[in-house]
Amino acid sequence: MVERTFVMVKPDGVARNLIGVIMTRFERKGLKLTNAKMMHIDRELAGLHYVEHKEKAFFGELVDFITSGPVFAMIWEGQDAVKNARSLIGRTNPSEAAPGTIRADYALDVSSNIVHGSDSIESAQIEIRNFFGE
Ligand code: CMP
Repeated sequence: MVERTFVMVKPDGVARNLIGVIMTRFERKGLKLTNAKMMHIDRELAGLHYVEHKEKAFFGELVDFITSGPVFAMIWEGQDAVKNARSLIGRTNPSEAAPGTIRADYALDVSSNIVHGSDSIESAQIEIRNFFGE
């Protein structure tokens, strides 16, 4: 099924100049970029984006990190885009991510794992609305 998903290069990925290599992986897979922007996440949007983690011990750290610098927000479209993007990105913890995935290849730490991808069609719709108003 043709879907859209939300992907974001986090502040560590932007600071490390990894936007290009990350976008290339999605393009090579065959997904299509339909919207993208460099932006700064304020604490309100961070709270909305991470609402499901509100009670976690690392919530404060998560909000501090995602608001610490610019992010690069994108919408990618294509067949099973949510699942395909998640498999390119790899598991949340880079040390458990399969070799060849973005997190395995470019990140070391679970809190600075350079990229975010929606985990379901429903969260993709919410995140696309929160970040792009679409
Ligand atoms: P992501 O899946 O993009 O969104 C939630 C984030 O919480 C996740 O990436 C991790 O970066 C972060 N996270 C998950 N577990 C931990 C943890 N134990 N400590 C710090 N951050 C975490």
